[in-house]
Amino acid sequence: MQYNYSNALLNTYEADGNMLQDADNVLLVCSTKQLNRLKLQPSLLMAATKALEDNKTQVFTILGNKRNFLVTTPRRNAEELRLAGALVFKNLKKRQSKSAKFKGLKQFSEAECYALLEGFLLSSYAFVKYKKEKSQDDKIDIYLPSTVLSADRLAELKVLVEAVSLTKTLVNEPVNYMDAVRFSEVATEAGRQFGFETEILHRDKIEALKMGGLLAVNKGSETPPTFNVFHYRPANAVNAKPLVLVGKGVMFDTGGYSLKTGGVMSGMKCDMAGGAAVLGIVSAIAGNRVPYHVIGLVPATDNKISSNALVVDDVITMMDGTTVEVQNTDAEGRLVLADALTYAKKFDPELVIDMATLTGASAAITGSFGIAVLGDAQGAIDELKTVGETVYERLVQLPLWKEYRELLKSSIADLKNIGGSIGGVSTSSLFLKHFTDYPWLHLDIAGAAFVKEAKGYRQSGATAVPVRLVYEFVKRHMNKG
Ligand code: BES
Ligand code: ZN
Ligand code: ZN
Repeated sequence: MQYNYSNALLNTYEADGNMLQDADNVLLVCSTKQLNRLKLQPSLLMAATKALEDNKTQVFTILGNKRNFLVTTPRRNAEELRLAGALVFKNLKKRQSKSAKFKGLKQFSEAECYALLEGFLLSSYAFVKYKKEKSQDDKIDIYLPSTVLSADRLAELKVLVEAVSLTKTLVNEPVNYMDAVRFSEVATEAGRQFGFETEILHRDKIEALKMGGLLAVNKGSETPPTFNVFHYRPANAVNAKPLVLVGKGVMFDTGGYSLKTGGVMSGMKCDMAGGAAVLGIVSAIAGNRVPYHVIGLVPATDNKISSNALVVDDVITMMDGTTVEVQNTDAEGRLVLADALTYAKKFDPELVIDMATLTGASAAITGSFGIAVLGDAQGAIDELKTVGETVYERLVQLPLWKEYRELLKSSIADLKNIGGSIGGVSTSSLFLKHFTDYPWLHLDIAGAAFVKEAKGYRQSGATAVPVRLVYEFVKRHMNKG
């Protein structure tokens, strides 16, 4: 699949980069002292000085025989640097730059350079596949001194951005181009490219395993379900038991017979964002040869209607034998995830993280700014919260109070698939918890996975949340031993 890694090609140059005569210059300036040395026109000097004094990142374009982009970059926190990177990209794009050379990066630490370039590369993604005019598709070659970022960190950043782009494109693709079967094909290609094994279970195997949740949701669809397993087990893995990642792969959510009405169905191609994120995370980990044993599980189907579709009041039997009284066919995510959580047991995991666009209630709490987290692996939740602040995919924890369990009781089956009018995020999570017997946590990404407005280094549409979060978590968690 052409998933459009990035519209910026990152290169390094040695010494003074004399061979880059024709490239535009991007000059980063952090202090007024530096500005004064540049012999700028008085009006520009004044404006740039003011930007620095106001702690503002601003791009000034100086047009001559060669373009120079002067960037005031006064502050140093990682997120601000990512946003600065995005602003530089936007300006280069506006001026139709073909190649640009970064100058002034040496005053930043390696981590700061990484953040700036990360923002630049992430913002350069565009989903233009279905546009006749692919104007956004022109590539920009950017160059930076080889001394500012080690070759390893640079390669790591490229792989990470590539994995993020893969996730975004999978989510942005509409269901008529990206159904469960196609998802499995793309995952298999990604496995080859990034270096992990894929195992695709088709309908017969899913039936043999008695995955009643996945099969029930698929009943209304002409496209068969798939159950996707990604294995990455490097010889030098530092963990004895694997980390298992589970992602909701509802390729499109109509709501089923509990039909989504009044426009809320629009955007529901994003309902496989958890599954696409699992694929992106495993790709990033494998592509960067991170010494960690990771398994990804994605139950994939759409949630549609036919005369044979699941209806409210149906009782279904899940893979682990639990019976569920369906009271709302739009609460389908938990049904497909439950079987995947049961399947995870066979790996004797150290930790299971599931990620899903599970509830509108979560989106109402976080908006597009964050992720709801719930679970019983409190140590891992705390680590994730810290990482979340750094990568800026932030978490808010919600409770799994036992009182909420009452809401899931059914008079005729073991559970029902919805709670009451309150605590929708907590009851959905307690439903999932029922199918776990290992340390576990759940990320509800309904608010942040797919957004209306482009902002900073995010485009409108897919954001690939929580790919960067979980990738960075694995790296830090690994070093904790
Ligand atoms: N896919 C939706 C949740 C969703 C909402 C994702 C908004 C992204 C943006 C999910 O399957 C759903 O419909 N959940 C219901 C659950 C309810 C019926 C208990 C919801 O949140 O309304
Ligand atoms: Zn739904
Ligand atoms: Zn859904």
